[in-house]
This record gives sequence, structure tokens and C-alpha cells, in this order.
Amino acid sequence: MNLFDVYPINDITIVKAKGSYVWDDKGEQYLDLYGGHAVISIGHTHPHWVKRIEEQLNQIAFYSNSVRIPLQQQLAEKLGKVSGKADYQLFLCNSGAEANENALKLASFHNGRKKIIAFSKSFHGRTSLAVSVTDNKGYVAPVNETDNVIFLPFNDEEALVSCFKENGKAISSVIIEGIQGVGGIRVAEESFLRKIRSLCDEHGAIYIADSVQCGYGRTGKFFSHDFAGVNADIYTMAKGMGNGFPVAGIIVAPHIKPKHFQLGTTFGGNHLACVAALSVLEIIEEEKLMGNAVMIGKYLKDELNEIPEIKNVRGRGLMIGFDVPEELKDLKKNLLWEQKIFTGESKPNVIRLLPSLGLKKRDAEQFIDSLKEEIEKLVTTPTHAS
Ligand SMILES: Cc1ncc(COP(=O)(O)O)c(C=O)c1O
Repeated sequence: MNLFDVYPINDITIVKAKGSYVWDDKGEQYLDLYGGHAVISIGHTHPHWVKRIEEQLNQIAFYSNSVRIPLQQQLAEKLGKVSGKADYQLFLCNSGAEANENALKLASFHNGRKKIIAFSKSFHGRTSLAVSVTDNKGYVAPVNETDNVIFLPFNDEEALVSCFKENGKAISSVIIEGIQGVGGIRVAEESFLRKIRSLCDEHGAIYIADSVQCGYGRTGKFFSHDFAGVNADIYTMAKGMGNGFPVAGIIVAPHIKPKHFQLGTTFGGNHLACVAALSVLEIIEEEKLMGNAVMIGKYLKDELNEIPEIKNVRGRGLMIGFDVPEELKDLKKNLLWEQKIFTGESKPNVIRLLPSLGLKKRDAEQFIDSLKEEIEKLVTTPTHAS
């Protein structure tokens, strides 16, 4: 049997990882500023995370949600404390798409409405509703097409106001990333998020904060939406939540009441997933990783802003993007193959940095030096790479 070939891959086999480094099967070391797509929050194979999962594995790995799982309550309490949303309610699932799917569905159950507002360049996942609020026709199968989704331009308050004016009583929810990831590190303006909050309040709609990529401390606040100083009704989480162990969830404001059987999942909230998520929060607190994300993120942005060849440096904390002009289009590739540094990208021309929140200053410095070296090579020998 062959693999179903849906991923364009780099021809690299990673066999070992530690902190912000990974090694391939030939023993080559790489600096990982991509974090396996923003997943590695506390660092690869963090010893505390490994120990907690190992210990749990020897106790019990899984039992279904038909019995008490005290680890879920422990996780809810810890998450409430670290995120500052202690009065919210936690529902656990397995992936970012599933978190968004549940959030959109719950909003609709709650207010009995069907219309959803989403934004240009959004990415919310691949399942049915999640993909229908994703602004990429290539990902939406005919069966997922729906008239229930209204796409508006990102950060356009006027368009938002007039959409609510026209459809107010039909709108179930508004879903927005605090910083668009796949869309190219586009930061939602604080005033725009506040406008979403006030319009949702006025019209009885639910504000869903997709924090799958921009959440979990990556920006220096637990949820990047928090910069706006208003709360969402539902936050969705995944990626950094388990540092690579598949775990996701939504937290739900107290005014939205649960009903038995409304949501559900077999694997969500299993013992191993809870322990992985708990150990991530323990390390975020203990090692003050949100502070580190702010500090190293500032260093990186300041340095990047000094490099004239790259444009529009943006983002928050350790979620950073910049534009690469056409003449440097091989930069990402060269960083990987010449400098052994993984970075992320957004088509057509954005490099994305999504490293572990524990990234060290010396690693950030190494990246800046390597970046300058590769830019220099491309500028002086423009035909360098094919
Ligand atoms: C903002 C955002 N939402 C949702 C998802 C989907 O998450 P998953 O791939 O875990 O389903 C992603 C994944 O990249 C994402 O970036």
C-alpha cells in the first residue's frame, strides 16, 4: 500500500528532537523555528512532559467519557488559572478543526441560528463546518459548500457593521483568528475585535476566538485575542496544547449552558492527553515561557526590522511573519538546505516563525546571522539557486 499523497514534503527524515533542535537520520542537526507548524510549545521532548506521559502510560492510557476522569478537572482548573478564564467551561477533543467544528455547532445550538461570519484569508481546519469558514476554495469540497457562511474583509469594521445591520437576527457566530496564521501572520486589530464583541452582544451572536495557532501563550498573552481587552464567548485551542501530543479543546463562557449529548467524542479528554496538556501548562508557568516569547520575539522583530531586504515584519511574541521579495524567493529553501534551519511559510511570499516558546537568545541570534548570510548570497548571486 502507498500513502495517500496529499502532502508536498521536504526530503528529510527526522528521528530525534530536543528543545528547539531536531536531527535527521544522517545525524544532521537543524534549528526548528517552525515547531512542526506551531505545535511545539515547551520544546521537543521536554523531560517533564516525557516523564508525566511515561508515568501515566504505566497507569492507564485511555478510558471513555462514560466514567469520571479527574485529570480533566485538574486540567480545567490549571487552564482556568493560566489563561485567566477561570469561570469558563472546558470541552476536550482531538484537533483544531474539531475544536472549531464544536464551537460553531455549539453557538448554533445556543442561539438557534445558522449564519456565520468569517474573514478573508481565514483558515479554521478541514472538517465540514471548519472548512466552510476557511477562505480557500481549494479546500472546500462541493459537499461542504453552504450559504450559511458570509465572508467579510479582515479588519474592516464598516463591512462588519453593515453585515450585522442586514442579517443581525440570523447571525449565529463570528469566528476569527487573533493572528491569522495560514493567511500570512495578519494581526486582527484590537478595535476590530472589540467591535466584534459589541456587535455580538447587541445582536445575540457568539464571538468565537480561534486560538488554535495564535493561542497558548505564543504571543505573550495566553490568547492573542486578549490584547483587545474583551472576552470571546468561546476560545478554540489545539496545536501548542499538547506539545505534539494530539489534544484540543474549547473553553465556553458561563452564560452558554451545556446539555447532555450535545457534544461528544470518543478519544477527547483521555488520560494521556490530559497529562500531556497539564504538563505543558506546568512548564509554561514554571519556565515563564510567555515572558520568554515576548522577550525573544521582540529581539527577533527588532533585528528583522534592521534588514532592508525583507519587508513588513509583523506578529506578536513568537508568532512572526515577514514578506520576502521575488528576488529572494529561494530564501526559505536555502535556510533549510544551507543553514539547516526550519521555518514556516505562507504562500506566496511570507516566511513564518513559529518556534518553541522556550527559544533561546543564542538560537535567535544564530537565525539572524544565518538569514543575513543567505540574503547576502542571494543578492550578490541572484541566480544562485534554481
Ligand atoms: C487557526 C487554525 N485553526 C484551525 C486549524 C486546524 O487545526 P488541525 O490541523 O489540528 O485540525 C489550524 C491548523 O493549521 C489553524 O492554524
